[in-house]
Amino acid sequence: MKEILKVNNISKTFKMGDEYLHVLNNISFNANHGEFLSLMGPSGGGKSTLLNVISGLESPTKGEVFVHRKNIYNLNDDERTILRRKHIGFIFQFFNLIPTLNVEDNVKLPLLIDGSNSDDNYSYLDELISLVGLSGRKRHTPSQLSGGEMQRVTIARALINKPDIILADEPTGNVSEKVGHEILEILRKCNHELKQTILLVTHNHKDAAYGDKVMFLKSGTIPDKYVLHGDDVSESNIFTCLQELNI
Ligand SMILES: Nc1ncnc2c1ncn2[C@@H]1O[C@H](COP(=O)(O)OP(=O)(O)OP(=O)(O)O)[C@@H](O)[C@H]1O
Ligand SMILES: [Mg+2]
Repeated sequence: MKEILKVNNISKTFKMGDEYLHVLNNISFNANHGEFLSLMGPSGGGKSTLLNVISGLESPTKGEVFVHRKNIYNLNDDERTILRRKHIGFIFQFFNLIPTLNVEDNVKLPLLIDGSNSDDNYSYLDELISLVGLSGRKRHTPSQLSGGEMQRVTIARALINKPDIILADEPTGNVSEKVGHEILEILRKCNHELKQTILLVTHNHKDAAYGDKVMFLKSGTIPDKYVLHGDDVSESNIFTCLQELNI
């Protein structure tokens, strides 16, 4: 199996005035091409911080992140940004949409930034907007959309460049169960059909069960004992881990 992401001994400490907040403490794991990983943990436990570190948006205090065997923190800022745009699609927890752009322009923003405006990409644009069920909302700006619709725009935007790694930060956190299910099916399709590697952060054990592997982030670490693989991934096993870890 081809390793696409390697997180090696990552620690992250925030300094707030005189106090140090140790959020991540020696986190290590790998993801192979086409693997679907789920990450669960308490609110404030450092999940979004970890995704930010993996995507190159926030430098770790210690440790390395390798994307396609390249240590992203050995690159300069421009190189790291290019690598992120090429390989990583980020579905943010709090949308991060441009308020003045309509749905279609928000989704195609990554293409405009990269100057990759081939016909191929543009036909994918229509396909994606339809995939997330927003064909009838193309001209709406974010303030004219519901929360679930905004979330679906961020999903289409994260997918437009066909990134090989998708980081999804609670993509079903603010939507109904039905829409949440549709979102997970979209991610599953990306994973199965395009072999995109997925790292899903979720508070929902049903969503987490979509993973080939489920990890739990507690007190800044991912305890080996509670990593579920393959056949061990089931809603009931996830539920037991959550209980034992008091998440
Ligand atoms: N830039 C920052 N400066 C200082 N502290 C921060 C910063 N970003 C996050 N933190 C702190 O780090 C901790 C982890 O935050 P993070 O957003 O990673 O949690 P999370 O696991 O994603 O939580 P949730 O499930 O609520 O989204 C929190 O206690 C937060 O207050
Ligand atoms: Mg978060």
